[in-house]
Amino acid sequence: MSSATTRDSFHSRIGFILAAAGSAIGLGNIWGFPTQAANNGGGAFLFVYLVVTVLLALPALYAEVYIGNQAQKNPVSALAQACGERFHNTGRNAGIIGLFGAVMMLSFYTIVAGWMLAHALSALFELLGFIDISVWLSTSSTLRNIVFTPIFIILSASIIHRGVHAGIERWSSRLMPVLLAMLVGLIVYILQQDGAQAGVALYLIPDFAQVTNPKLIISAMGQAFFSLSIGVGGMMVYGSYMKKGQDLGKLVLSIAALDTFIAFLAGLLIIPALFVAQHAGQEVFTDGHLIGEGQLIFSILPSLFASMGSGGLFVSFSFFALLSIAALTSTISSTEVPVAYLVEDKSMSRKRATWLISTVVLVASMTLVAFFDMLFGLVIQVLTTILQPLMSLFYFLVVGWIWQRGNKLTDMAILQKNFKLKLFGLYLRYICPILLIIVFINVAF
Ligand code: ALA
Repeated sequence: MSSATTRDSFHSRIGFILAAAGSAIGLGNIWGFPTQAANNGGGAFLFVYLVVTVLLALPALYAEVYIGNQAQKNPVSALAQACGERFHNTGRNAGIIGLFGAVMMLSFYTIVAGWMLAHALSALFELLGFIDISVWLSTSSTLRNIVFTPIFIILSASIIHRGVHAGIERWSSRLMPVLLAMLVGLIVYILQQDGAQAGVALYLIPDFAQVTNPKLIISAMGQAFFSLSIGVGGMMVYGSYMKKGQDLGKLVLSIAALDTFIAFLAGLLIIPALFVAQHAGQEVFTDGHLIGEGQLIFSILPSLFASMGSGGLFVSFSFFALLSIAALTSTISSTEVPVAYLVEDKSMSRKRATWLISTVVLVASMTLVAFFDMLFGLVIQVLTTILQPLMSLFYFLVVGWIWQRGNKLTDMAILQKNFKLKLFGLYLRYICPILLIIVFINVAF
């Protein structure tokens, strides 16, 4: 099958932006970001997060989308092509590693997404009066993981196998506005509750004494990379579905702005919600630190929702449904990475590739469920603190160094002539790798 003639693509710029923003916006924004912000000084974390997003994550996102867009191929072939004849195999191997990264991410992400789905249904069943089922759904158990992880994987696969336009673009365009509306609605509600003001103040007024704290800077960088889905190929494959000749700078800026805006809004929901819970007499912080992530979202927030009376069940349902939607649009992009590879490079049908990869993800996630205590945290740590930064470093090297030599790419010719772009090229070439190496060394040692 010739990939050149059968390649599906996004039909509009806005479709691309919504799909890519959908990939970026996920559990990382709505849960990870507020938790990290609450643990790291609120406003100080927000400030550093914004700085590292602009200085490092945004250029990395540009490099990733750019490589995919130039090659118009799946990440394995795109990286092989970008590396030229001399480094062809290195590029290909890096692409395969990214592909494994995508499956690694899906292995834990689908488990957590399953929890969100179970909690949304728990609120629904309680509303309908099925209390026993509701309690089972909101109680953590291996059986619940065995039921809900596959449900989530099937949901995601059923969108992907329809293709890029009919599946990914259409569903991202539908789901993303719903997510934004739900988030704004919940914020309006929470901000009217007693105690919310203290949370707003902590979140919006940075304590500048904390912004140079290395731990805070590293946490903010890791969060920014994870949040923008950099380094696992999802953004590269989406970039490849975008026609060439677009102003990628503007597109990438829109994606990062949307992602950051949603993270900001999530902070504006969760941090005041914590203070409302505290005002209502619940223990939220111990020694100035937030009580464990899992405990917080699955015990404090639901009991806060419960304190709202019967309306609280609607709020609870909306909140967890929102997290499920956000997770779904993120799993779609990571699943698309290996699917595109199998379709284009191994001539497999899209349907077959989708279900094959979904089965692989299911096996990986069930392995995590079986050895949860040993593997769950480890996989997350290896992916976010080692693999994602390393892949981003590779993208910078490819765009900044390898691609500049002996390539025939039109954009690079433009780059040489345009002063602003040239400056940006130099920034990608020198500053970004150095900044990343500093972060990586800090994280590793
Ligand atoms: N970027 C996705 C998130 O933030 C993975 O959840």
